[in-house]
Amino acid sequence: MAGELGCWNIADLRARARARLPRGIWEYLERGVEDETGMARNRAAFDAITFRPRVLRGVEHIDTRTTIFGREVPLPLAVAPTGAAGLMWFEGDRALAKAAAGAGLPFTISSASTIDIEQIAEAGGRLWFQLYLWQERELSLAVVDRAWGLGCEALFVTLDLPVTPNREYIMRSGFGTPFRLDHRNVLDIIAHPRWLAGVMGRYALSGGIPSQANLPRHLRAKVTGSAPPGALFKHDNLDWDEVARLRDRWPGRLVLKGVLHPADAERALALGADGVVVSNHGARALDGSIASIAALPAIIEHVGGRMAVMLDSGVRRGSDIVKALALGADLVLAGRAPLYGLAAGGTAGIAHALAILEAETRRTMAMLGARSIAEIDRELLG
Ligand SMILES: Cc1cc2nc3c(=O)[nH]c(=O)nc-3n(C[C@H](O)[C@H](O)[C@H](O)COP(=O)(O)O)c2cc1C
Repeated sequence: MAGELGCWNIADLRARARARLPRGIWEYLERGVEDETGMARNRAAFDAITFRPRVLRGVEHIDTRTTIFGREVPLPLAVAPTGAAGLMWFEGDRALAKAAAGAGLPFTISSASTIDIEQIAEAGGRLWFQLYLWQERELSLAVVDRAWGLGCEALFVTLDLPVTPNREYIMRSGFGTPFRLDHRNVLDIIAHPRWLAGVMGRYALSGGIPSQANLPRHLRAKVTGSAPPGALFKHDNLDWDEVARLRDRWPGRLVLKGVLHPADAERALALGADGVVVSNHGARALDGSIASIAALPAIIEHVGGRMAVMLDSGVRRGSDIVKALALGADLVLAGRAPLYGLAAGGTAGIAHALAILEAETRRTMAMLGARSIAEIDRELLG
């Protein structure tokens, strides 16, 4: 696969994805918000962390296994929830689930998936479900119940989008909902015939354009139509009481995603959450947000060891995973990295992205003299 795609790292897959996708879809995958200082900050914060390796430790055998929620994973990595993956590849959500299952890694189904969660769950593997709340809350609760019925182990409630993020590029490109056709984006689509045939063509043959698949049929908006009232996500009225009610309703693990302040992590713990994801949504929500890797140490200080602390936003190398673990994270999630693989080559492309991250993690551990995940600690940072 590596030779076939000519992709030796995540940046190579990114370049391949970019070439394959129409510009508007590429921008949706890649871009941040407003002046996009947050994306650079996420990367700069990782790059500013350096290692102080140990030598002569006998690193012939590197064990990358760890546990999350009491169960083993082969690598401290999970696939983050990403909506609209179905625009990057035919039934992209299913491809993500399949590749994660193949690698033995947890996959987080997005509320904004474009195929039913039942179809995604057919891929098997360890599943988590990410929740956005529709204005009509009963719709969301019905999906939450379905997710539990499908065996999802954890409910991830995303908290960092209280309002719609300011994605000015969508207003320019017309690639929003409803999708606005104009001469520029029509030309853009025509210039990407492989995507047109391989993604949109296959949808046309199999019964239609992707929509918000988790809503009841009568409320589903196609990407070309406006969402009906009630079927819009609404979070500006979400509060701790509502999350507490979700805690009471959901029998599995509850994780709050998008926590950057230690006081909120404390509150999550007090409420009975099993974990938090320290995340700035890949710099797709608030441009001026602290990098999540910079926010991690204070959160570890407050709740580390008492609940699962996961991290995402900006992970592009195995060394980033090791840095997050050295600062106390239990597990890392990757959003764009698997999506680059998806857009570059479907299930095989995602598998390749995950294999790259695995190999890089293993190599970094060996370079540091860390033979197991337990041996990765702050002493190895310098
Ligand atoms: C295209 C795209 C769609 C996303 N959709 C969702 C979503 O539906 N729900 C959610 O909680 N987070 C969503 N996210 C955020 C990711 O879960 C994750 O927090 C972020 O991608 C991590 O940063 P990274 O892309 O640098 O790895 C999305 C991210 C991307 C790139």
